[in-house]
This record gives sequence, structure tokens and C-alpha cells, in this order.
Amino acid sequence: MKDFNFYSPTEVIFGKDSELKTVDEIKKHGGSRVLIVYGGGSVVKSGLLLKIENSLREGGLLFTSIGGVCPNPRLSLARKGVDAAKEFKADFILAVGGGSVIDTAKAIAHGAANPETDIWSFWMKEVALVKSMPVGVVLTIAAAGSETSDSAVLTDEVTSSKRGLNSDFNRPRFAIMNPKLLYTLPSFQLSCGIVDIMMHTMDRYFTLTEGNEITDEIAESLLRVVIKNGKIAMEDPHCYHALSEIMWCGSISHNGLTGLGAATDFAPHQLGHELSGKFDVAHGASLSAIWGSWAQHCYQAKPERFTRFAKQVWGIEKSSTQETARAAIDATVEFFAALGMPTCFTELGIGVQSEEILGELADRCVFYGKRKVGSFKKLDREDTYQIYKLANR
Ligand code: NZQ
Ligand code: ZN
Repeated sequence: MKDFNFYSPTEVIFGKDSELKTVDEIKKHGGSRVLIVYGGGSVVKSGLLLKIENSLREGGLLFTSIGGVCPNPRLSLARKGVDAAKEFKADFILAVGGGSVIDTAKAIAHGAANPETDIWSFWMKEVALVKSMPVGVVLTIAAAGSETSDSAVLTDEVTSSKRGLNSDFNRPRFAIMNPKLLYTLPSFQLSCGIVDIMMHTMDRYFTLTEGNEITDEIAESLLRVVIKNGKIAMEDPHCYHALSEIMWCGSISHNGLTGLGAATDFAPHQLGHELSGKFDVAHGASLSAIWGSWAQHCYQAKPERFTRFAKQVWGIEKSSTQETARAAIDATVEFFAALGMPTCFTELGIGVQSEEILGELADRCVFYGKRKVGSFKKLDREDTYQIYKLANR
């Protein structure tokens, strides 16, 4: 096991009606002037936003709101949010929504706490983030894991660059999780979430680090649980039990636990971010569209890791290592397809791309040769190009 630091300070308030505890949580974490951040309208339609605003009013908290966050959240809206937070003199940012809303809230918190710095400088690693403002979350989708993660992902729509920032300042103070809030999710978003939860686990699990028993077992059981309950939730989108399991898996899959003591990979995420940056496709869909091609290109780096995955997650055992590894890749891709998720570019809705575009995606993914991607197999420009090419059908 490699040495590690594990810092996961987010207080989780889980269960039915947990959103009613929002005011107490904000007060507990020092908030009195709250900027509420929300998305494109689902929380308006469901009445959740109004419910929270009313409870803040009754609880004597001052608040203002900014809505309109879209999937693959935009830098420009986050900048507007920073201005709104400064003008209102907010001391607490409350995200009511999914990963896009939470990441925007994190960005606003960083910008409001550092008024002299343009937030994109943090994402471009030009300026180190050394302080921020508290963020709380009322989660409405089980997917990105941003409610407990140290990450925030923004898109600069001017350059089509989708970039992540990792920092302990990205850890929310609290995450309120009521599985009933997932009842209104469109089935595509539920599927995107299941894929993303699996991928947060698999992007850590496919590692060259040996003998990491507890971390491996946590990852494998998480994958089995999310696959099992994903199938149930697809059939019965109001199954409280299945949604509870999926929602909690979402947080555990990305708070760091499933990769402790190992070198993590995350190449499929980086490959997917370029697809979302260029074509504005949903994050989960970008991952399911690229993973099979990544796996096909990379599994020879350590086929035994895929055979373990085959046995522990899918219960597959064939006569040879190679056969078992390939069967596990097929089973995973078939599961994505059964969720209604794309497994190649045409299914992703972007069509077959030209050689020029494949080259552009590959260049951007390796920052024009400035970095290699992943650790299971360190991908250079030729590797990323070949993976995009495999998915280009
Ligand atoms: O905008 P509204 O109207 O709220 O609708 C949203 C949005 O259209 C809808 N939705 C959310 N909750 C709903 C609902 N619709 C009905 N009922 C509900 N209860 O779902 C759509 C997707 O929302 P979004 O927040 O974009 O989803 P998700 O949580 O998957 O977040 C994706 C974003 O997070 C980033 C992704 O790259 C992407 O930008 N990620 C963030 C991470 C992090 N911060 O740790 C890690 C991830 O790997 C990921 O990169
Ligand atoms: Zn993800």
C-alpha cells in the first residue's frame, strides 16, 4: 500500500426529508448570508427551491439566488456568481442540484474569497488556491460525487476547454442527501449517474499498485452494489432502497476512499472531458462512449487486473487470462448499453469524426504534448489518438 492522506470532512445528512435540516446545517457551519446556486429549472419545477428558500426565510437567514447552471457548467456563469456573491456579501454558498451546480458553487466560493484573482487562474494552475468560502450541498442527482469530492470541473466555453481543479478547499462542509429527490430524474440522467459512479471507482481500480486489499475490496463491492441497484432503479425509478444505495455509492465512489494507497488512473475521465468540452455531451455519456476503447487499448498493460475485475465484479471466469479479461470488457460495455448509454461516437450523437478532429481531441487531451494521461498505461498523443479512433464508429 502506498502512503496516503485521507481528508474527507464533509458532514453527510442522509435520508427522507433531510433537506429540512438545511438551515441548521448552514448555521452550524457559520453561514448567515447565503448565495443559493441552482441549475436549469428542475428544482424550481419540483418545488425544492421554494421549500429551501422558505425555510431559510423562517430560519432568519438572508439569501439571494443565482440559477441557470447548465451541464458542463460554464466559466462565464461562475464568474457572474462571484460578482453576485461579492455584491451580496455572501458568507456561505449553497448548491441545490447536481455536479454542475455544486462545481459552480465551489468556483463561486473560491472567487468570492479571492476577489483579486480571476477564478480560471485556479483551474489553469497559474495561481494556487489557499483560501475559500464554505459550501453546502442539497444533492438532487447521484452521479458526479462532487458533494464529497475534492474536485470541481468547469468549462471555458470560449476555448471549449473542460478542466478540473483538485483541492481540499473543494470539499463541501455538508451534503444533504434525500434519495426521494432523485424520483424526478430523467432515466438518461439516472443512467449517466450510474456510469459515472462506476467510472470513479474503475478509474481508481485499474492501477498497477499491487496488494491493496481493503481498497480493492471496497471498490469491488461498490461496483457490485451499484450494478445490482442500477438494474433495479432502471426498472423501478421510485425504488427508495435502490436509489439510496446508488446515492451513497456516488459519494463513496469519489470521496477518495476507493483509491487509497494506489496510483490512480483517470485516463477515461480525461478522454471524456475533451469530448464534453468540444461537443457538450453529458459527462456520463462521454465516459461510457470511450471506456470500452480505452480498455481495449490498455488492458494488456496488466491483464490480470482485468481478470480480477471479471471474477470479483462480474462473476466471469474463462479458460485463459486473455479471454477472461476481454469478457469483462464486453460485460461492462454491454451493461452500459443496457442502461441505454452510448458505447461509441455515433451512439454518443456526435457522428463519425474526421481524422483532423480525432487529432485535435488527442492533442488537447495530452495538452499538446505537455503531459501524459493516466497511470495504468501512460497515454501519449498516439495512444489517445488510437483510443479516439477505436471509439469513432
Ligand atoms: O439543471 P437542472 O434543471 O437542475 O437539470 C439537471 C441537468 O439537466 C438534471 N437534474 C439534476 N437533478 C435532477 C434533475 N432533473 C430532474 N430531477 C432531479 N432531481 O440533470 C441534468 C444533469 O445535471 P448535472 O448537475 O450536470 O449532473 P451531474 O451530477 O452528472 O454533474 C455533471 C458535471 O459534474 C462534473 C462533470 O464533468 C459534469 O460537468 N464532474 C464533477 C466531479 C466533481 N466535482 O468531483 C467529478 C466528476 O467526474 C465529473 O467530472
Ligand atoms: Zn466523473
